[in-house]
Amino acid sequence: MSSLFSPIVLRSVTARNRIAVSPMCQYSAVDGLGNDWHIQNLGAKAAGGAGIVCVEATHVSPDARITPGCLGLWNDAQTAFAARLAGIITQSGAVPAIQIAHAGRKASCARPWEGGAQLGLAEGGWPTVGPTAVPFQPDERAPAALDDAAIETVIARFGEAAARARRAGFQIVEVHAAHGYLLHEFLSPLTNTRDDSWGGDAERRGTLLMRVIDAVRAEWPAELPLFVRVSASDWAEGGLTIDDTVALARRLAARGDVDLIDCSSGGLVPDAKIATGPGYQVPFAEAVRRGSGLATGAVGMIDDPQQAQAIIDSSQADLVLLARALLADPAWPLRAAKALGAKVNLPPQYLRAHLS
Ligand SMILES: Cc1cc2nc3c(=O)[nH]c(=O)nc-3n(C[C@H](O)[C@H](O)[C@H](O)COP(=O)(O)O)c2cc1C
Repeated sequence: MSSLFSPIVLRSVTARNRIAVSPMCQYSAVDGLGNDWHIQNLGAKAAGGAGIVCVEATHVSPDARITPGCLGLWNDAQTAFAARLAGIITQSGAVPAIQIAHAGRKASCARPWEGGAQLGLAEGGWPTVGPTAVPFQPDERAPAALDDAAIETVIARFGEAAARARRAGFQIVEVHAAHGYLLHEFLSPLTNTRDDSWGGDAERRGTLLMRVIDAVRAEWPAELPLFVRVSASDWAEGGLTIDDTVALARRLAARGDVDLIDCSSGGLVPDAKIATGPGYQVPFAEAVRRGSGLATGAVGMIDDPQQAQAIIDSSQADLVLLARALLADPAWPLRAAKALGAKVNLPPQYLRAHLS
């Protein structure tokens, strides 16, 4: 029995294997509303055999979007579209997950293939927000430092997005607290230099994330799992380290309402020195798992079936999340199963693929 292809049980949810489609922005929505592109993209990945398919960063308000092409979940049309996404993923045999997000000071950017730079207000951009008025790049328009009332609104928006995700039929919600977006900006001492109750020591810098999780859990049924994606290291002097992340994970474990920490890294500051290589973030997933007792997801440059299986076999993580490998090949799980002598439960329409 291949560990990679063994089912995983999270609360009342069972996924057919340990392979998850990592959230990947498609920058193809209009006013936060998805279309056929998103359906074919995620439908193909679910039909390809992944156990969990996570919808890209889906933003809690218009100003929370990274780009004008990002998905949103703040109105009824978007909720109806999200239900189509959850439906095609479920129908194809995978568990539908959705990442809910606020881009903070990294919002209002052009799509990557249009350069990715911050958009001016006259070219379709919008005012951004952050823990302080310091921009990501020195030459960018400064964000507005959020005041208490605006922070409460952000928290409420996360709760509303979680309620919409539930109504749409998702079975896992992931709170995006990584990659230099708003929740990560509050967590890190490099970007959160506030001296009020939202800043200060690690515990206070974590207050916004804890409050967001409270708001999400208030709307998200107890029988459904909640994931949190973190940047386990800022890869920068004075920034978050894996020890800080293990401490945060212990805090989350003690609450009992988070089921899995999805361990990514970086994204907070432009001059981070990231030591990449195959599976370079796996040690973060392992440290968080061992240090907190929470389940973890390993992500980043995992593209070889033996490598993925070894991560599960050695209990470094409970799940592997793949992004670019699945972008290139939605049938990666089927190929991995063949390479490992395992079986993946494909939808009946695709059963003959086992024989090719
Ligand atoms: C096109 C693209 C879009 C991405 N969008 C998101 C996103 O919406 N949310 C997120 O947390 N990470 C996002 N990521 C990061 C991936 O989820 C993943 O963590 C990263 O690509 C490393 O995994 P990989 O080496 O398997 O590609 C994106 C990556 C790519 C390539």
